[in-house]
Amino acid sequence: MSSSSDSSPSGGQVAAAIILNLVVLGIIIAICCYCAKRAKRTIVNDLRNVVALPVSQPHHVVQVLEFDAPTMEKFLQELARDKPVRFTVQQLCAFTSNYSTKLGSGGFGVVYKGQFPNGVKIAVKVLERSSERAAEEQFMAEVGTIGRTYHINLVRLYGFCYDHDVSALVYEFMENGSLDKYLFGEKGMIEWEKLQEIATGTAKGIAYLHEECQQRIIHYDIKPANVLLDANFSPKVADFGLAKFCNRDLTHVSNIGYRGTLGYSAPELLLKNYPITYKCDVYSFGMLLFEIVGRRRNTIVSSPESFDWFPKHVWEKYEKGELAEMTKTCGIEEKDRGKAERMSMVALWCVQDSPEARPPMSAVVKWLEGGVDIMPPPKPFHYLYAREMNMLKPTATATGSSFSPSEESNSCWYKETTPIMTKYEIQMASC
Ligand SMILES: Nc1ncnc2c1ncn2[C@@H]1O[C@H](COP(=O)(O)OP(=O)(O)OP(=O)(O)O)[C@@H](O)[C@H]1O
Ligand SMILES: [Mg+2]
Repeated sequence: MSSSSDSSPSGGQVAAAIILNLVVLGIIIAICCYCAKRAKRTIVNDLRNVVALPVSQPHHVVQVLEFDAPTMEKFLQELARDKPVRFTVQQLCAFTSNYSTKLGSGGFGVVYKGQFPNGVKIAVKVLERSSERAAEEQFMAEVGTIGRTYHINLVRLYGFCYDHDVSALVYEFMENGSLDKYLFGEKGMIEWEKLQEIATGTAKGIAYLHEECQQRIIHYDIKPANVLLDANFSPKVADFGLAKFCNRDLTHVSNIGYRGTLGYSAPELLLKNYPITYKCDVYSFGMLLFEIVGRRRNTIVSSPESFDWFPKHVWEKYEKGELAEMTKTCGIEEKDRGKAERMSMVALWCVQDSPEARPPMSAVVKWLEGGVDIMPPPKPFHYLYAREMNMLKPTATATGSSFSPSEESNSCWYKETTPIMTKYEIQMASC
């Protein structure tokens, strides 16, 4: 039988055990450090490859992001606060699986679905490449503009590709596509309450562009196709491609030529040499609001002679005090009709003929959110009504004109008719 003192280790044994443990621990730490270093080097190399700088980068336009972060997540965070990253043509091919899934196309090119190596989904807009300046100008404007603009209601630009053959923009992917598909019947319906939220969110995005950016950004092409919806149907304004910076101190950008989409474009955009301000976006947003209220396109052409123009219908109903009835015929449930009436009034304010008479987008946001009284909107669309009136009364100054003097002065700022105005039977108010 052995005593307890026999089984207890001697001082030397304890010291040896401690040294052994320390040696093992040291080896483990060394291995860990080596592995971590290797992994870091691999990731950093991968990231450098992802954002490899093509030789022909135009340095004066956009800088390539310098990487200091060893993970893709960090890389994306960097993207969130820095300028867009430049990708190569080969990388875009890989991200889009050789452009296999088309999401849609618009005036400037085709949009494809893709994803980054870490699984983050993207939309790649490949711009039609022509030798014309316009395409390059649009590309540069968009990269420069979106690259400096972050807001929850604006689509994020992750990066771009620009070389001799390809110009492309890499955006965050918006799960539910564009609003027009829901308003005009291609996809399922969105509840009216959600549409109200979409309208308010869109207004906030535009208000940010107009009033909160360091330099005011005019969108020029606000329309339902440029309002994209994420997985929760939260709206984000897309395509600042036509936007140009203008100095906050300046009140307008002039001599820009025609921009935007007919049916949404403010009338002043059709005029030559008329000063264009950010209020052209307010007009387009008003047109978008009408389409939300009616859940239909504003213009429905039934025959070459007749077409049904919803905004005029809304004004006439408002004038007769029949907005509530109108919202009912639009299929809006009773619980939502008050908000729909309010939205119609906001729309009527937004589409005032004179840009100065239209409210700023921050006011539009407040009106849509409720809680602020809306003054009765003045009569819009004088330039359209004038035609009918002239048909009835050959001289505009004839007595019995339905225009009040103040209304007439509102329409005097139109100076010229353009071919597009003639084509769409838009006539100038006579002053
Ligand atoms: N970031 C995105 N996420 C998901 N789908 C997108 C994205 N960007 C565009 N799309 C889809 O691609 C379609 C085409 O977009 P595109 O901007 O090219 O055309 P548009 O908006 O109809 O016209 P415009 O050229 O005047 O902007 C959109 O309607 C939308 O369905
Ligand atoms: Mg678009």
